[in-house]
Amino acid sequence: MKICTNMKERIEQLQKKINQVKIDSKETLEQFRIQWLSKKSELQDLLSGIKNVVPKERKSVGALINKLKEEAEEKFNNYKEKFKETAQTQQLPDSYLPGQPIQLGSRHPLNLVAVQINTIFQSLGFSLADGPEIEDDWHNFSALNFPPEHPARDMQDTFFVDDEIALRTHTSSVQVRLMETQKPPMRYIMPGRVYRNEAISARANCFFHQAEGLYIDKKVSFADLKQVLFEFVRQMFGAECKNRFRPSYFPFTEPSAEMDISCFICGGKGCPVCKQSGWVEILGCGMVDPQVLSNSGHDPETYSGYAFGMGIERITMLKYSINDIRVFFDNDIRFLKQFI
Ligand code: PHE
Repeated sequence: MKICTNMKERIEQLQKKINQVKIDSKETLEQFRIQWLSKKSELQDLLSGIKNVVPKERKSVGALINKLKEEAEEKFNNYKEKFKETAQTQQLPDSYLPGQPIQLGSRHPLNLVAVQINTIFQSLGFSLADGPEIEDDWHNFSALNFPPEHPARDMQDTFFVDDEIALRTHTSSVQVRLMETQKPPMRYIMPGRVYRNEAISARANCFFHQAEGLYIDKKVSFADLKQVLFEFVRQMFGAECKNRFRPSYFPFTEPSAEMDISCFICGGKGCPVCKQSGWVEILGCGMVDPQVLSNSGHDPETYSGYAFGMGIERITMLKYSINDIRVFFDNDIRFLKQFI
């Protein structure tokens, strides 16, 4: 009799416990199965204890245990069904629905043009090189014939880090680094970002990009320089684009020149972009000054060379008729997505 009351109490306790179990995932459902429905479960334990119940009570106690087992099974099956449904709806999306459109990015126009410049010069035998944007005085100025206090340093307003270190004002610093470490013949194209302390306007920004060219060998002449630049302009702007060289001055080239091309916008007739002249400047160039050659360890009696440097923003603005340099750095998606 005693055993029977204990059994009933235990059954009631277990029933409460089973009702309280919270099932909210496949994992908790599996735990429920192991705890209540497996061979080692408490319910099974209870069933095997039935032989100790007095015979006349055995039937009713057995019925109670079976009822409890059924309830546990029902609870398990309900949740099993529920999780199956959600799993099925997750696994089987309607394959006839139209797909989500993929947003394609586009190349930045400066990158497009930089790659084009590199490709043209690589096809002419130049190798790619680069150098640091934070540069010392020697590589940015002194080795390139800008003596201290020389007024030519004012041509390029500089962001100084300290007395010796500055953000490079031109990619010509990479020329020096290459000449110091390589033996002629050497032929390099060097794209990169440069910095100048200028007021920001439609025509100027405090940083921009240049591509520098350098060729050092025996018997390099100004004619070689012109030939390479003619070919560059032909490939970049087309065969109908005219060009001209004007004498100029840079401390590190002698003689020096600037190259103009016929204005792309007005075709040479005169417009605000070319300031009514019909020509626009695209680069500076010249023969590497003998002093610069010896500064970087080469005998100017044996070797000569040419160098040129162009602004990538300027070339891009001409190519795509863009009249404000600031649009390159605004990150306005309406502007950027026009370039593929
Ligand atoms: N470094 C010059 C500039 O930034 C351009 C240049 C490069 C001129 C190489 C001559 C030779 O204006």
